[in-house]
Amino acid sequence: MASWPLVSCLRVQASRHNTSISGQTLPDCNIYSMRIFITGSTDGIGLASARALISQGHSVTIHARNASRAADAKAALPKADSVLIGDLSSIAQTKALAEAANKTGRFDCVMHNAGLGYQHGSRKTEDGLEALFAVNSLAPYILTCLMERPKRLVYVSSQLHSGGSDEFGDVEWKRRRYDSMQAYSDSKLHNAILACAVARRWPNVPSNSVHPGWVKTKLGGWSAPVDLDSGAKTQVYLASADDIGTGQYWANMKPAMTHSAVGNVGKQEELLKRYHELSGVALPE
Ligand SMILES: NC(=O)c1ccc[n+]([C@@H]2O[C@H](COP(=O)([O-])OP(=O)(O)OC[C@H]3O[C@@H](n4cnc5c(N)ncnc54)[C@H](OP(=O)(O)O)[C@@H]3O)[C@@H](O)[C@H]2O)c1
Repeated sequence: MASWPLVSCLRVQASRHNTSISGQTLPDCNIYSMRIFITGSTDGIGLASARALISQGHSVTIHARNASRAADAKAALPKADSVLIGDLSSIAQTKALAEAANKTGRFDCVMHNAGLGYQHGSRKTEDGLEALFAVNSLAPYILTCLMERPKRLVYVSSQLHSGGSDEFGDVEWKRRRYDSMQAYSDSKLHNAILACAVARRWPNVPSNSVHPGWVKTKLGGWSAPVDLDSGAKTQVYLASADDIGTGQYWANMKPAMTHSAVGNVGKQEELLKRYHELSGVALPE
């Protein structure tokens, strides 16, 4: 677990609770607490990350696809600050989610964690996109563009990004015959590329991607070797620790090697252009 961050967690907003460290109750200034938003925090690694960050004293806004899952998440995390709702497979709902998030104020950290796994077969969304692409790849881009720029960003990728394709002409799977493992790997490559592109475009906002490990969740499967708390560790660290750097892909608590497209500026810009075409939203300068 990360130690209490001292510098990057300074909070400009009013606090919600007193904090006690070494038996000394701090005044209602909450200087050690960050405002953190985690997508897909109803289950799995997102839920575990939210729980860990709340236990560190941070103010965590969780996210669910619908009202029923929001009630589940609130029951699982009664100390969460609030719950925002939006189905990330819908461009309209993702845009509305960004708007709702902005109404709550600026976040210190946004963690793009929600994802669909390769077990899911082909499903077209209301926008005519493949659902896995819409949820895993396009939604983090739309939220990044439309949410007030946070102080840092974390994108949950995967080691499987290394098998992703860096051809972006048919990212939405309109022409290709659907292959769920390829779609998943592609989406995780997109996450790592987006993190790096944002790090380059917004040098003042640390932006990193992370592989959590092969974790026991409904996405990872119950025979996966890594438990939830260990799986959440690196992304919790990236969300809350000082001096994490930017533009890196992390695994096992340290920067790791990536697909060659991740640091390729031409590929980054190509992907941003496709996202813009598909969503109508441009990444602000
Ligand atoms: N588990 C692994 O081994 C592993 C390995 C590498 C990377 N990852 C990555 O880690 C992240 C979290 O995965 P996980 O293993 O924790 O999976 P999980 O347990 O299935 O959790 C996924 C989360 O995303 C949410 N979600 C899915 N579709 C959504 C939609 N349309 N709108 C809003 N929310 C939606 C889920 O909501 P519901 O609860 O309502 O379904 C859930 O909260 C993913 O990005 C995944 O690619 C996982």
